[in-house]
Amino acid sequence: MGFVEAARTTDIPDGEMRSFSIAGKPILISCFEGKYYAIGGRCTHMGGELAKGKLDGKIVSCPRHGARFDVTTGECISGPKIGMIKLKTNNVPAYEVKVEDNSIKVNL
Ligand code: FES
Repeated sequence: MGFVEAARTTDIPDGEMRSFSIAGKPILISCFEGKYYAIGGRCTHMGGELAKGKLDGKIVSCPRHGARFDVTTGECISGPKIGMIKLKTNNVPAYEVKVEDNSIKVNL
């Protein structure tokens, strides 16, 4: 599909994240230390909306069962926890990002 304009840089201050639906895909765009990153917006465990979770540095926690993902790579840092049970889940997809004239473009 190639690069698709997703947002303006002013939409996402440093240290924050926003969710977007781009070509029908849920995408989470975040700004970490002045650089923009895009990953899948839904948790790979049971589809929790990552934008409703907590962003701490470059780690987002799923609001449903607490799986944690690196927003710069999509890597799952720790899996869901339900009661005392720790589970595993997959990484979320990561997408290439470029910024042109304050426009954030995501390669889908
Ligand atoms: S849906 Fe995200 S941890 Fe369960």
